[in-house]
Amino acid sequence: MNKKEIIKKIIPHLNPKKNHSKGIAPINIALCKYWGKRNIELNLPVSPSLSLSLPYYTKTEIILNDDKDFIYLNDVLLSNENNFSKRLINYLDLFRPKNTFFTIKTYNEIPTGAGLASSASGFAALVFAINDLFEWNLKKKYLTILARLGSGSASRSIYEGFVEWNVGKKDDGMDSYASKIDTNWEEIEISVCLCSDNEKSVSSTEGMNRSSETSKFFQTFVMQSYEDFDDIKNAIAEENFKKLGIISERNALQMHSTMITSSPGFCYFIPETIKIMNHVWDSRKNGLDVYMTMDAGPNVKLIHRKKDNQLIKKEFSNITSFL
Ligand code: PMV
Repeated sequence: MNKKEIIKKIIPHLNPKKNHSKGIAPINIALCKYWGKRNIELNLPVSPSLSLSLPYYTKTEIILNDDKDFIYLNDVLLSNENNFSKRLINYLDLFRPKNTFFTIKTYNEIPTGAGLASSASGFAALVFAINDLFEWNLKKKYLTILARLGSGSASRSIYEGFVEWNVGKKDDGMDSYASKIDTNWEEIEISVCLCSDNEKSVSSTEGMNRSSETSKFFQTFVMQSYEDFDDIKNAIAEENFKKLGIISERNALQMHSTMITSSPGFCYFIPETIKIMNHVWDSRKNGLDVYMTMDAGPNVKLIHRKKDNQLIKKEFSNITSFL
């Protein structure tokens, strides 16, 4: 089954109802990671994941034109041969009516392609804009499926707050969608220690495929992820910060262990990453309640309580504010 066949099951028509539309979506940081696909074409996961959306956004506009596609990233016109443009144009092709071209203007509040989940907010914002352009008024559940076809983690960026993405069993993935976790718990903050904003050398898709195909630790990661997912959900229900921190940090490190043990091995950490990791462990020994998570890039995201914002900023001088 390919993406076009899935999209046909979801969208009612392909007639744009306006010439100009907009979408906005937050980045999300996974506390229980998505790493490994049971279907590569449809971005179907092998294990459930859970994230927290952060107040950093991608805003995307679509303008119809009848000439060619134009892709702007943060006000800069990109070549259509650029990797970012190619990925976007391939995705737009899934929704393209005959003889129609798009101008896409996308603004990221955070660096693109540095493991800071900008592809997640990017595809989610694009899906909101496409839904607006065609006036489909799709339920969010279906928007999460459309976003997943762009980038797996984008399914979770359709919502604010804590979000879960279930694995599903069906081959067509219609039962693998994201949903918002019902809670009023707002105690948690995630702060980004920016170690590098260079684009990653191994894409997340390439990385997760290599890990799942070659790392002997991969199955252990998957089995543990199911447990971690339930435990983090319970921690949210109990509003138990320490439990959430411990499990999230361990889940991230287990994901990274599948990368180092792949053949050929790879690692997103740089010396600055390791320095901050040690700093987190030392700070915890000294009584500061701080945990960490890392994605497909070198940057460290600190998980802490909002009430500790000042203490954390003082302790970790390299925290970056993107706004
Ligand atoms: O959605 P992708 O293909 O960019 O993969 C995201 C993978 C991680 O960020 C490492 C984990 C996650 O769950 O977001």
